[in-house]
Amino acid sequence: MTPRGASRPHQQSRPQQGRQNGRPQRQRRQPDPRQPAVDVHDPDGVRLQKVLAQAGVGSRRACEELIAAGRVQVDGVTVRELGVRVDPQRHTIHVDGMRVQLDNSLVYLALNKPAGVVSTMNDPQGRPDLGGIVGPREERLFHVGRLDTQTEGLILLTNDGELAHRLAHPSYEVPKTYLAEVTGPLARDVGKRLRAGIDLDDGPAAVDSFRVVDARPGAALVEVVLHEGRNHIVRRMFDEVGHPVIRLVRTQVGPIRLGDLRPGRARAISGPELGSLLAAVGM
Ligand code: URA
Repeated sequence: MTPRGASRPHQQSRPQQGRQNGRPQRQRRQPDPRQPAVDVHDPDGVRLQKVLAQAGVGSRRACEELIAAGRVQVDGVTVRELGVRVDPQRHTIHVDGMRVQLDNSLVYLALNKPAGVVSTMNDPQGRPDLGGIVGPREERLFHVGRLDTQTEGLILLTNDGELAHRLAHPSYEVPKTYLAEVTGPLARDVGKRLRAGIDLDDGPAAVDSFRVVDARPGAALVEVVLHEGRNHIVRRMFDEVGHPVIRLVRTQVGPIRLGDLRPGRARAISGPELGSLLAAVGM
């Protein structure tokens, strides 16, 4: 089976949530046209296009175009002038409604955990761990949630405590996608049962979506999306419907995809991809 693949300038409050399919749905920040004009010019600051370019939004020229097109907000105010200077420590910047992370000390990594690696940064028993993949680093990274030792795939690492907290918190309901190879042949009603909810020892659990990717007589490859993260949740659900998991790979967390990241490798998350991750948890 191949998986397909600061000090914070300002702390934002959670955006308003609508509801869809009975679950809260996060909305992108929209600039409020009625808001009073706020002076975002900081004479001692750095030019806005330079700040954006340094944050990985694009080249300085591309950032100038974003500003001129009215796609950039500083502290909620749309800025179209190119001369504006801002203080990256103090101002909050959004592009197309998505937060731009301006604090260079914050690190965000996507890591492809191979089977056999434990989900800890430094395993006291000396087993292969996540710290061994990212190597020694100045900043203290946390892993966001865990994967079972035998489960492979996407795990996020960061030193942004607020993001880690929000991603792990059930109230933000960040969807996680798994590709599961399970014993076959698949019973016809498996998807329906998993969507309806399965009674587990620690309470009911349901998938948000279920899709058969490949079905062979002895095994099937299915993609499931869940927004909760109890221990061994996917394995326990498939056990309960009579199709134990043979192999499990997490391919997506919120908007972050595993893609073609090789097992045992990590890559930085930055620019619009980071903006979408922050937006997914209302930051
Ligand atoms: N569900 C599982 O069963 N295992 C994991 O590692 C993640 C989700």
